[in-house]
Amino acid sequence: MMKVAQMAFSQQPAQKEILLENPAFKEVPVLFRSLSPEIPSTSYATFGLYRYPAKFIPQVIAYALKTYGVSGMRIMDPFAGYGTTGIVSRIYGNPYELWDLNPLLKFFHSAAVMSPQEEEKIDLKKAVENSKPYVPDWGSLNYWHPEECLDLLSKAWGYFHQLKDQRLKNLLLIPLLKTTHYFSFNDEKRLKLSRSPMADKRIETLLEKDWKNIFYKMIWNGYLSILLKLKEYQSLNPQPVDCVIQSAVDGLAASPEKESDILITSPPYLQAQEYIRSTKMDLFWMGYSEEFIKDLGKKEIPYRDVPVVQIHSPTYDECLNGIDEAHLQKMFKRYFYGVFGILNSLQEKIRKYLLLFVGPANVRGNAIPMSQIFREHFTSLGWKHEITLVDTIVSRSMFLYKTNPATGISDNRMKTEHLIVLSRERASLLGRLKN
Ligand SMILES: C[S@@+](CC[C@H](N)C(=O)[O-])C[C@H]1O[C@@H](n2cnc3c(N)ncnc32)[C@H](O)[C@@H]1O
Repeated sequence: MMKVAQMAFSQQPAQKEILLENPAFKEVPVLFRSLSPEIPSTSYATFGLYRYPAKFIPQVIAYALKTYGVSGMRIMDPFAGYGTTGIVSRIYGNPYELWDLNPLLKFFHSAAVMSPQEEEKIDLKKAVENSKPYVPDWGSLNYWHPEECLDLLSKAWGYFHQLKDQRLKNLLLIPLLKTTHYFSFNDEKRLKLSRSPMADKRIETLLEKDWKNIFYKMIWNGYLSILLKLKEYQSLNPQPVDCVIQSAVDGLAASPEKESDILITSPPYLQAQEYIRSTKMDLFWMGYSEEFIKDLGKKEIPYRDVPVVQIHSPTYDECLNGIDEAHLQKMFKRYFYGVFGILNSLQEKIRKYLLLFVGPANVRGNAIPMSQIFREHFTSLGWKHEITLVDTIVSRSMFLYKTNPATGISDNRMKTEHLIVLSRERASLLGRLKN
């Protein structure tokens, strides 16, 4: 186990040796931010409208498409989250297909790729006050929002749900979600929905002010800011490409609409999931029922039983053997059965490249070299390992835990992320040359 951990890229001085000894270990340090300067920051354009957990930085996709793609190649991302892959794909003229278990994908994607819009003259206050309230189907509604604000929140969401103009809905959704969070006891510093004395204090202070006015201002300023961000996006020259969006879909039960050239994805993390739980408040206000949200949570990897998949990786076996507790072994196996279950069938429909973005993880303090496991598994399925690019996480919004929710034990934060590049073309070319 320790031997495996030491082979992971964390020790830079050993890199050359590894490269010379075993070309399959080709790991090269990079800074994706500097490799795609045409995207000036991670929050430029519409990439940062919403703080989706573990969102790609757009420069990773930009680099991948510039290096391995050409305009017109079809892109697939089965764990699309916020939809960054699609938003970037348009800039390089690539049609795409996105999947995610989280229903939010479809809404965020629609908002982020809109053409620039002019400011509309809306009397938001009047419109909201005259709206029929919308009350979410949420048993804990009173626990999460101050009673004083519930009427205003319900009317604002009533206004949203009754809107017929889809463009306006797209523009108002994210500001409304952000304002709803602000008018809740949720601690904004944590990515997960969680109450804290600090958040309670914040609400207490807010309610001493002209909070109704603040409420409307927040939504309106958010709306204006999206108009600006759409203009920034337009300056990157996005193309009107074909796209397929499958949200609220379980990757294990979905099938792609057609073949793609490149699959680029960042699968859920072994030690930091619960994407549904972290977006629960949004889902309730957007109209999803408690039962539906609970059901979605049960489909998240690795919190579920999944069909067994053969894992072709000695490193996987070694790591599994190094785990003593049965419940941790179960979580570990479920994770790989789930992620590889989805990727195994999808890779058959990918013509050129698999680009897998993964972070190393820990189980009981033992490093799990994720990129090695992914690389070994997919090379044994016939893919050729081109290179693994190792980036240091600077601002990607990650879950910060003292304990891992999947295992209940303490974890270290992930510090680097690895883009594993696998090609089909060269593998088959090599195969042909050998024969
Ligand atoms: C690391 S995040 C992807 C973030 C994305 N790259 C972005 O830029 O926002 C992993 C995603 O996997 C999704 N996921 C988890 N279990 C899933 C399943 N069974 N089917 C489909 N998606 C799933 C989560 O909802 C989450 O959005």
